Amino acid sequence: MNNQLNIDWPHFLANYWQKKPVILRQAFPHFCDPITPDELAGLALEQEIESRLVSNLDQKWQATYGPFTEQDFTQLGETNWSLLVQAVDHWHDQAATLVAPFRCFPQWLFDDLMISYAVPEGGVGPHIDQYDVFIIQGMGKRRWRVGDINPNYKQFCAHPALLHVEAFTPIIDQEMTAGDVLYIPPGFPHDGVCLETSLSYSVGFRSPTAQALVTGFADYLLEHDLGKVHYTDPNLTLPPDPLNVSPHEIERLKSMMIALINQPDYFNHWFGEYISQSMHSLNIESVEPPYHVDEVIATFKQGSQCHLVNSIRLIKVAETYYIHGEALDLPRPMIEKISHLHYFDQSAIAEFIDDKKVMNQFTHWLNRGYWYFVD
Ligand code: SIN
Ligand code: CO
Repeated sequence: MNNQLNIDWPHFLANYWQKKPVILRQAFPHFCDPITPDELAGLALEQEIESRLVSNLDQKWQATYGPFTEQDFTQLGETNWSLLVQAVDHWHDQAATLVAPFRCFPQWLFDDLMISYAVPEGGVGPHIDQYDVFIIQGMGKRRWRVGDINPNYKQFCAHPALLHVEAFTPIIDQEMTAGDVLYIPPGFPHDGVCLETSLSYSVGFRSPTAQALVTGFADYLLEHDLGKVHYTDPNLTLPPDPLNVSPHEIERLKSMMIALINQPDYFNHWFGEYISQSMHSLNIESVEPPYHVDEVIATFKQGSQCHLVNSIRLIKVAETYYIHGEALDLPRPMIEKISHLHYFDQSAIAEFIDDKKVMNQFTHWLNRGYWYFVD
């Protein structure tokens, strides 16, 4: 049985979301760790999975990036270190069930599930994140200190890979045990120190910067050779100071740029492609040799289930669905049937199963590996 989350979302959103941090005691009653420390260490051996080991013995902060070897783990002491593995929801089915209760949030904002294993005194040190995070305590115990938001905090590199923040006065200073959830909005300094060997699960959200959006949109225009509209001003008059760009001209220039963003065809399509890309590798295996549509229909008819790759991003912008950076060209009624399902069988697509054209389109995405069959 999967862990059940007990949060009053409307109350949480009105009082805490991007406003203030809070500990939600026993938000996961009877919490059961969905992964073992050994399994987590196993993921950190893999090339495509991002992982980090952070240690702080004698106040000397060190951080190394994976993939690790088994020997790296045998050399570790009994205190003062932690292992962090990113996007575990992409690779571990049972861990992925932990993000299910957060699927009611706009999915374009969701990022990943990071899991950390820490031994006593282990942690990543005091720092500030620029995104919202729900930290679910699993086995063990951790003491969390969270400070108030303040633009004047000084940040410094305790190690080239660790950006820390100066000492802060805590507004939360509490021990967390299995099933407690700490929500931290962007900008609030925090520090979680392990008291008893612990697993923590961070459900993280994205918050794109204006800089990333403008850059991403500009890249899209370049790639598609769009927006090559030249500046004109047929009502030009001679200015008193020819060196000056007049306010009226500045407005015209800005309008040119804004007009591009306001083109729904450009903006929506760019944003769909952009936001449906994952920031971490996914467990996608393309099918070799590719399926023929007849094989796909036969496999459904034999009763196989078709699963969507864990945490692949399937996002709808205006009337178009995007998956993993591309528009998903399937008939709308079919997408609507399957887009919210983690897996489905032929009964979900009964009205399309004998439509070769539709099934041929779906075969393309199966061959890409975005969905896969399980017998
Ligand atoms: C951790 O789990 O050690 C770090 C989580 C965080 O502070 O964001
Ligand atoms: Co953090």
